[in-house]
Amino acid sequence: MTLRLGDEAPNFTAMTTEGEINFHEWLGNKWGVLFSHPADFTPVCTTELGEVAKLKQEFDKRNVKVIAISVDPLAEHHKWIGDINETQNTVVNFPMIADPNQEVANLYDMIHPNASDKTTVRSVFVISPDKKIKLTITYPASTGRNFDEILRVIDSLQLTSGYSVATPVNWQQGDDCIIVNSVSNEEADKKFPKGYTVIKPYLRTTPQPDLA
Ligand code: BEZ
Repeated sequence: MTLRLGDEAPNFTAMTTEGEINFHEWLGNKWGVLFSHPADFTPVCTTELGEVAKLKQEFDKRNVKVIAISVDPLAEHHKWIGDINETQNTVVNFPMIADPNQEVANLYDMIHPNASDKTTVRSVFVISPDKKIKLTITYPASTGRNFDEILRVIDSLQLTSGYSVATPVNWQQGDDCIIVNSVSNEEADKKFPKGYTVIKPYLRTTPQPDLA
């Protein structure tokens, strides 16, 4: 099943390192990041999971729950977490889905047979509180992801959902934002009290609206 932006994130029940979950119930009214790993006891995955554990506070601050998945059994996940904690100097503080029958992996199209028919690629799904898919990323098994970039996109998505702005190329927290074109100048006068700059009629920038 191909999942596209704006689609509902499919629900499932699965066993995780923190017990059985119903995915939608587990998400509740929070944002979610579901990210897959090719296999347990692999080096790139070990570094990624350690990094996500270290970034947990950053995800919490943004009201985001994170959950990992690989097509290995629960007992292997538990053993591997010991290695991750030891080698990455952290404590894994989020659940990992055990998906040995590849049910969730298939539901989310995480197995790309021409890459590998046994393991998942590195997929990322960012899901909004209304359970809609807001971001998909697919990386090859050999390339570790940049979770700072995933946080950056979440910041952008949350700004877009709270204000009528988009974020420009290479945007970072604190940089100016772009007023979306559906907002007229008259509306912008009211919505953006910090003011805005008209570079072209279709390119208007304003200071990041959620900062004091
Ligand atoms: C890794 O996590 O290191 C990895 C997993 C599968 C293929 C290549 C690398």
